[in-house]
Amino acid sequence: MYVQAADAPKRKPVTVPALREMKVRGEKIVALTCYDASFAAHLEAAGVDIALVGDSLGMVVQGRASTLPVTLDEMVYHSAAVARGLSATLLIADLPFMSYRDVPHALASSARLLAEGGAAMVKLEGGTDWACEAIAALSVRDVPVCAHLGLTPQSVHKLGGYRMQGKSADAATHLREQARAVTQAGAELLVLESVPQALAAQITKEIPIPTIGIGAGRECDGQVLVLYDMLGITPGRRPKFSKDFLGGRDSVPAAIAAYAADVRAGNFPADENILG
Ligand code: KIV
Repeated sequence: MYVQAADAPKRKPVTVPALREMKVRGEKIVALTCYDASFAAHLEAAGVDIALVGDSLGMVVQGRASTLPVTLDEMVYHSAAVARGLSATLLIADLPFMSYRDVPHALASSARLLAEGGAAMVKLEGGTDWACEAIAALSVRDVPVCAHLGLTPQSVHKLGGYRMQGKSADAATHLREQARAVTQAGAELLVLESVPQALAAQITKEIPIPTIGIGAGRECDGQVLVLYDMLGITPGRRPKFSKDFLGGRDSVPAAIAAYAADVRAGNFPADENILG
């Protein structure tokens, strides 16, 4: 039996406008991926601000080699399960590969994630014209969007692997332009994955929406990790930018609480978790 969200201490619901207020106040935003109701209840109890139903579930739950095979039905299923474990934590669900390839698909797919999956926001990868069109079409219909730039795993074949992005001066300029473009299009939040800390810091200063980093240093407005990586249960080598918070602790709730405390105090990522 999982811990019901009702057992968790009551707190104010985390809303989309509240995230922007946190950025203004300089309060770090704590996010974790989540794929089921039991873990969701633990995120809720630990006061995590955002539960992200990432399409990383294709890799860490389904054992696939990439996120590309994940379907919209699967995202809706996992999102609805996570929603049942939450009360105040904000739920973001990923739009899977090709489910937002044009505006009609983006609208229809997002409608399912919000209406059936219980999400409050959808996340999509990319910052080029067509992605901005999808963001604008959703935003104007009051569907909150989280953009995702830098290492965008759905583009793994084009990128040639899971590598750091924005390292050259040109690539950094391009990413800064894309960050401004997604903001202009109406994105409410921006995930920056695997980019140099200095670039993530610059983007964070340049745009009014909160940035959430993963492998992007400690200057972002918040941090996100893949839940199974931060519990040390993903098979294989742990990425340098992640940390095993369960190691040395006796329970999953203690590990999640330690992560939340470290992000809020600015202690995670530590120097040894910073790439580049
Ligand atoms: O799918 C996912 O888990 C993500 C995070 C790594 C940000 O997009």
